[in-house]
Amino acid sequence: MENVKVVSHPVIAHSLTVLRDINTEAAAFRRHADSVAHILLQHATFDLSLRETTVTTPLAETKGYDIADTVIAVPILRAGLAMLPAVQQLIPNVRVGFIGLERDEATAVAHQYYNKIPGDLAEQRVMVIDPMLATGGTMDDTIRAAKSKGADNIVIVCIVSSPEGVERITSNHSDVTIYTAALDEKLDHRKYIVPGLGDFGDRYFDTL
Ligand code: URA
Repeated sequence: MENVKVVSHPVIAHSLTVLRDINTEAAAFRRHADSVAHILLQHATFDLSLRETTVTTPLAETKGYDIADTVIAVPILRAGLAMLPAVQQLIPNVRVGFIGLERDEATAVAHQYYNKIPGDLAEQRVMVIDPMLATGGTMDDTIRAAKSKGADNIVIVCIVSSPEGVERITSNHSDVTIYTAALDEKLDHRKYIVPGLGDFGDRYFDTL
């Protein structure tokens, strides 16, 4: 599974523990989700290409770099929005496209209710962000939506992933790299990740 990067870091290990804890309240949940997102995004952007530039320090002119790639983040509404501030801090001029997919709780099948992904994504780094890769259905649909707009350089960033979701994305999209902080055991009968952390959106936005 060379396209699956399970990012290991002491801060991730601790923050994931806090995120998983049923007793963690929304404020702490947000803070730790943000820490994990930052570290994952640093890994997911390590290979962005650079353009040489020059910079004048108070002492001399020296070599510097601009990020040459155009980066577009696509948060999957609603939970994906939780990872957007971290992307915007890391890459301030990131473009942002939105996709809204809601899964039917009974069938776990996703229905698209919003799509504002800009066209002409060829040669841009598309980063699809969604904290929970469960069945992979909404992620699969989002990758297809991005590819239909020309995307040819896609990475996905998820905090917790299931084996089922990873299998679906790697078999349908061998050109996509997955960055995740945890590869959990399984999905339960309601398609929640086990052990997981429950409903990410509800815990992050405090709508439980
Ligand atoms: N979405 C969540 O928020 N949690 C899961 O476990 C699965 C999907």
